[in-house]
Amino acid sequence: MKNILIVGGSSAIATACARQWATEGARLFLAARQPIRLEAVAQDLRVRGAAAVATHVLDINDHQQHAAMLAACSETFGPIDVVLIAHGTLCDQALCERDVEAALRELNTNAISTIALLTLVANALLAQGHGSIAVISSVAGDRGRASNYVYGAAKAAVTTFCEGLRARLFKSGIGVLTIKPGFVDTPMTAGLALPGPLVASPERVARDIVHAIAKRKDTLYTPWFWSGIMLVIRSLPRFVFKRVSL
Ligand SMILES: NC(=O)c1ccc[n+]([C@@H]2O[C@H](COP(=O)([O-])OP(=O)(O)OC[C@H]3O[C@@H](n4cnc5c(N)ncnc54)[C@H](OP(=O)(O)O)[C@@H]3O)[C@@H](O)[C@H]2O)c1
Repeated sequence: MKNILIVGGSSAIATACARQWATEGARLFLAARQPIRLEAVAQDLRVRGAAAVATHVLDINDHQQHAAMLAACSETFGPIDVVLIAHGTLCDQALCERDVEAALRELNTNAISTIALLTLVANALLAQGHGSIAVISSVAGDRGRASNYVYGAAKAAVTTFCEGLRARLFKSGIGVLTIKPGFVDTPMTAGLALPGPLVASPERVARDIVHAIAKRKDTLYTPWFWSGIMLVIRSLPRFVFKRVSL
């Protein structure tokens, strides 16, 4: 039976992952800010077969709370087998261009909080001697685009941090998976004009995530075709890239 900590436990993508783990009888510890939303997800997971579900309210930007959350998870379920970091906010790029405080807030939520938490999680898993870490980054981190480079910069920091952390933990047998979804139909993207055929359901993306964690993969583009799209985007010469509207 697996013990799984999910930060951003009420996210649409994380919920879809948790539903799969629930059917396998996992024990799930869900953390996020809004208790009512968390409890609704927890109830759903209990009905779907989770062996146990606990919730924990925290604002991930309050770094002082991270250690208490990890301690609460371990006290509730014992050693943690999988940590999925799934919290995030989609930045208002136009606002971030005008307002430095807004840009820093978004960088905190989408990068600094994750890096702070990963540092504690890595040391906790090293101390217990096993475990897997999976972090939802984004294809947006692969290249800084004019339309969302604040969010992209945060995700690029997370991706690079995970790459280094993976190398540090490799010999200890602790896996680090970097997840790069493309467009996913969730509350985060509600109301955005996205190219329909490229938008995946949370369930589709969750299947890939759960499989990649089980296979202890290093990096996942999901759905798969985003690895090709991002290869093309990364290959565009800079003098072309700065002229195209992406
Ligand atoms: N949707 C997409 O197209 C897409 C694409 C690429 C990557 N991603 C990434 O995938 C992950 C999940 O996204 P989603 O689309 O499933 O989003 P979502 O449904 O909007 O969920 C976001 C989650 O983050 C939590 N959260 C936000 N701010 C928080 C804070 N300060 N402290 C604690 N929890 C916080 C929210 O819970 P509370 O509000 O209760 O705190 C919620 O659980 C994110 O990292 C996102 O950047 C999404």
